[in-house]
Amino acid sequence: MPSHPDFPNLRVLDHPLIQHKLTWMRRTDTPTSMFRGLLKEISLLMGYEITREIPLKTTRIETPVAPTTAPVLAGRKPAIVSVLRAGLGMVEGLRELMPGAREGQIGLYRDPETKRPVEYFVKLPEPEGRLFILCDPMLATGHSGAYAVDVLKKAGVEGQNIRFMALVAAPEGVQVMLDRHPDVRIYTAGLDECLNEKAYIVPGLGDAGDRIFGTK
Ligand code: URA
Repeated sequence: MPSHPDFPNLRVLDHPLIQHKLTWMRRTDTPTSMFRGLLKEISLLMGYEITREIPLKTTRIETPVAPTTAPVLAGRKPAIVSVLRAGLGMVEGLRELMPGAREGQIGLYRDPETKRPVEYFVKLPEPEGRLFILCDPMLATGHSGAYAVDVLKKAGVEGQNIRFMALVAAPEGVQVMLDRHPDVRIYTAGLDECLNEKAYIVPGLGDAGDRIFGTK
């Protein structure tokens, strides 16, 4: 899949099913139950694209008809890491796609004074030799996304083994990620116009965490 013309680190997943489901997620009148279901479905479809380059090896098997060699995934099980809390909404679809995947979580909050992310919880699978899919539905300013990648790299994950999965991204956030982590590929279903003065993505879909969990 070709990268975006303005951002070499970005892949926009333009599959019709993904685009259709995203439109329903954007709508104000889409209820929580449907929003969750759509996020699960899109995450599975995005995961299918993101894992396209996982290496294979061949193994000997026997079918009911004949022995043969056939491909299976090489290397260790992939890891799904959610940035709390909205990233949790993307885990179910990926888990369905990769039931053996390991899972981790990164909890960040924004320091009210410095406005910078601060970690309050980190639990990660063993880093060596696996693909890490880092989930955060909204790549807005890019500061928490870039920080979450810092956390993974500090734990020993190489940038080339990290895929950042964002449902919707703002150009500002993609640029911050490109500046801080040019070796990390970002996958999104929608590259939107900009951020507003409250750092919400425009047109976006509102607060993803609130829409997933039915909070306000
Ligand atoms: N986080 C969200 O949930 N929505 C945005 O638009 C930006 C950040």
